[in-house]
Amino acid sequence: MGKLIIANWKMNLPVGSMAGITSFAEKFSPAQKKLLVVAPPYPFLTHVRATGFHTAAQDVSSNEKGAFTGDVSAELLMQAGVNYCIVGHSERRQNHNEGHELLAQKIIQLLNHHITPVFCVGEHADEHASKKTNDVLSAQLHALDNFKDKEIIIAYEPVWAIGTGLNAGPDHIKTVHHYIKQRLGNDTHVLYGGSVNAGNAAAILALREVDGLLIGGASLKPDEMVKILAMV
Ligand code: PGA
Repeated sequence: MGKLIIANWKMNLPVGSMAGITSFAEKFSPAQKKLLVVAPPYPFLTHVRATGFHTAAQDVSSNEKGAFTGDVSAELLMQAGVNYCIVGHSERRQNHNEGHELLAQKIIQLLNHHITPVFCVGEHADEHASKKTNDVLSAQLHALDNFKDKEIIIAYEPVWAIGTGLNAGPDHIKTVHHYIKQRLGNDTHVLYGGSVNAGNAAAILALREVDGLLIGGASLKPDEMVKILAMV
């Protein structure tokens, strides 16, 4: 696997509308589309896939099936042709109180349906300042204790770097990715996320410890993404 680039659109669409998906897709060649995984809001997963991108869901239900209004199961994501699913993004940990047990249940659902989990970890600003990053990550990674040898991608996203314009520096990223790989095995794919854009992506992608990027804000801008894809 080469470097993996995932566009996390969050609760947004390019130019704010469904028509924006079409104009976004038009900026990429078929070969470039193959290099990009797009994580749109649920209703647009099949539409984005039809334009030629691989897709990721932004979340999944921890339940198999049944009366769970508003939830979407891994089985349904599989039917929609979804390849990856973000699990435990800091916005979900924060806004929906998602913790270890729930996240582990979600991972079980995804693995049962052949969807690759992209498990997000990252420290808050105060934890970063007090040099507790490894402790925080270590605790978060315990959610994966029962999944040794399963294909799970890790996204290291320092919370203080998400949507702030303050991306982590290469030295910090290198150290943290090294720590994660030491902990989970050298073959583990570790993506970096947090204020990545076309201006800083090359320096981050140049790090041997970085296996790809999870991009939020900049991923809504096709021109930025075309530039970043040219670097992988
Ligand atoms: P950002 O978001 O690139 O806007 O910082 C990254 C993410 O939340 O995945």
